[in-house]
Amino acid sequence: MHKRAILRWLKNTDPAGLRYLYGAADLVRKKNVGEAIHLRGLIEISNHCRRSCAYCGLSACRRGLRRYRMSRHEILKSARLAERLGYGTVVLQAGEDPGLGKKWVADLVRDIKSKTRLAVTLSLGERTINELKAWKMAGADRYLLRFETSDTALFQKIHPPARGMKFSGRIPLLRKIRAMGYETGSGIMVGIPGQNYDSLAEDLLYFQKLDLEMIGLGPWLPHPETPLGRMKEPFGSNQVPHTEEMTLKALAIARLLRPDANIPSTTALATLNRKSGREHGLCCGGNVVMPNLTPLRYRKLYEIYPSKVCIFESPAKTAADLDRSIKRLRRSRGRGPGGRGPSLKKEFLWPTRLKKEAKRLTSPS
Ligand code: 5AD
Repeated sequence: MHKRAILRWLKNTDPAGLRYLYGAADLVRKKNVGEAIHLRGLIEISNHCRRSCAYCGLSACRRGLRRYRMSRHEILKSARLAERLGYGTVVLQAGEDPGLGKKWVADLVRDIKSKTRLAVTLSLGERTINELKAWKMAGADRYLLRFETSDTALFQKIHPPARGMKFSGRIPLLRKIRAMGYETGSGIMVGIPGQNYDSLAEDLLYFQKLDLEMIGLGPWLPHPETPLGRMKEPFGSNQVPHTEEMTLKALAIARLLRPDANIPSTTALATLNRKSGREHGLCCGGNVVMPNLTPLRYRKLYEIYPSKVCIFESPAKTAADLDRSIKRLRRSRGRGPGGRGPSLKKEFLWPTRLKKEAKRLTSPS
């Protein structure tokens, strides 16, 4: 897809034009990854973080925030719940917590892999090659690390360096993670202050350049206790808005660029539009949902952005709601781990109905 075509779609606000884009993404999703919606149980295992990212509510700068780290026993209990609810994968996510040591995490992964049939996805921040290798050896299947923005100047502005650590960049790290044999996921926030259309288009092209297997993108949601959340809007004339529409456009384009990737309809999108954000995401290219399995007593402490949907929702209720959504959309629930299987083809599959129109979607003018 040509960058000019991406920019054209990002700037398009005509409802008929957007319906066409969303419909195309939906068809491409159906043709390449089918009707199954894969559910990944998210366990937020620690809110400790050594970073001070300017958008994130878990930033080390938030001295007042009570910190927690789940015990191995608690995590295993949540993983077993994932299995009981029929989910094929657990995602272990945390702030960048040095307290989650190499051996501890490796033992945890081994434990989950030996006691359940779940695929294990890790999302523990920028970790050393040694740690990442040890976790892969222990059986971890996937790693998620959003690069947030491909604009290096903007990245550095919103990610002040952690003490004693030098800036090396997430994109080179993602390439290494992929080379280690992880299924690799990354993504961005849509509408972070300072993000312009050109840089968002570049971000989307990176999904293709990095050949990502998983792509997560959601709107930036201002957290009032963070430097970016305290800034006054508007941020400038070429600023990308952090709206549902812009997120859906980016999601649809991501699907056209990476037809066989696993792409979640994110919690941030569901938070921005509580009534139907999640379903909209699933109709614009999404094929994954990551229901939260973190024990309720920790949820409030993992507010990367405020009023995260699902803060008080029990895992069983979430699962029932999701089943209703899946039925309403006439889709099916994914079975098994739902990774990039051998059945998925590498080449781009255009649905027959769109073949003639592919040009309209992807050409520069
Ligand atoms: N708004 C939206 N998304 C956020 N994230 C962190 N803070 C925010 C926020 N304020 C996203 C980042 C991170 C992921 C775990 O959550 O993209 O990678």
